[in-house]
Amino acid sequence: MINRFLGLFSHDVGIDLGTANTLVYVAGKGIVIREPSVVARNKKTKEILAIGTSAKRMVGRTPAMIESVRPLKDGVIADFDATSAMLDHYIKKVHESGTVIPKIPRPLIIIGIPSGVTEVERRAVADAAISAGARKAYLVEEPMAAAIGAELAVEKPRGLFVVDIGGGTTEIAIISYGGIVLGRSVRIAGDEMDEALINFFRLKYSLLLGQPTAESLKHSIGSAVATGKERYAVVRGRDLESGLPRSVRLSEGEVREALSPIVQEIVGHIKDALEEAPPELVEDPITCVVRGCGKLLTDRALLEKIHVSGGIK
Ligand SMILES: Nc1ncnc2c1ncn2[C@@H]1O[C@H](COP(=O)(O)OP(=O)(O)OP(=O)(O)O)[C@@H](O)[C@H]1O
Ligand SMILES: [Mg+2]
Repeated sequence: MINRFLGLFSHDVGIDLGTANTLVYVAGKGIVIREPSVVARNKKTKEILAIGTSAKRMVGRTPAMIESVRPLKDGVIADFDATSAMLDHYIKKVHESGTVIPKIPRPLIIIGIPSGVTEVERRAVADAAISAGARKAYLVEEPMAAAIGAELAVEKPRGLFVVDIGGGTTEIAIISYGGIVLGRSVRIAGDEMDEALINFFRLKYSLLLGQPTAESLKHSIGSAVATGKERYAVVRGRDLESGLPRSVRLSEGEVREALSPIVQEIVGHIKDALEEAPPELVEDPITCVVRGCGKLLTDRALLEKIHVSGGIK
């Protein structure tokens, strides 16, 4: 009863609680929050000092008594208190403007979770949502949410292949009939790419890059296959011999070489998933064209739109 009353004034929300980024969607409004999943707090007292973008700015620059933590690791909660604090903060933020009653109403929350997480890990996410004030928490597997978000027809009896490379996990899933027929959540993704860059250039140039530098290097000139243009980026790190700051100019080719083992590993998992896929769901390439033509027989509007030359009447 109380729950129902409090729900009347709440904004129901959908949350992508990611290892790298947290996004919040409010019903009827769209995406209202998009911030890094980072919490800065006092090391001793655990008092929260900043959350999100302002906390991420502190990474690698904080004085000794401040720690900036990522509440999630590999897609799952690594620090329950920090996760609850982050959820609590965003839920309050969503309700701050325009509400009539000062008390925080209790929203319904839908949260994406990696496929294949353990029961304990699921429970932790639901508990964090409830302790942040949710009246009800629904958990949805991330590849399913991603497919729905991409407006794919998840309920059709055909195989949809979804690959979502995040910060902590790569989700690989085959979806059919509204369910995940085959799901793999591999704990290798963007974070490991940043680590690979740090290790590679530490060995190659005795230069230690900070995580934010490695990440922006990946964004600016990172690639999986040759792009045809050889781009460069100048990065600043700490020289491991002198201990002093030093800048180097890195080429797209060597960044690709550094990222390659991670990319190969992800590709390997994608291939494995395709091999394991039930044959019924793997589209038959030989009959594709004729099935396409057949489909157009019953969809004249589409035929008119895509045909390349007029017919003879
Ligand atoms: N242009 C880009 N090129 C390469 N990597 C990128 C680019 N933009 C973002 N990334 C990387 O994508 C990752 C973040 O992706 P995303 O926000 O989907 O992760 P997440 O949902 O928070 O994590 P997870 O789903 O694993 O919990 C980071 O590692 C980030 O560096
Ligand atoms: Mg994600």
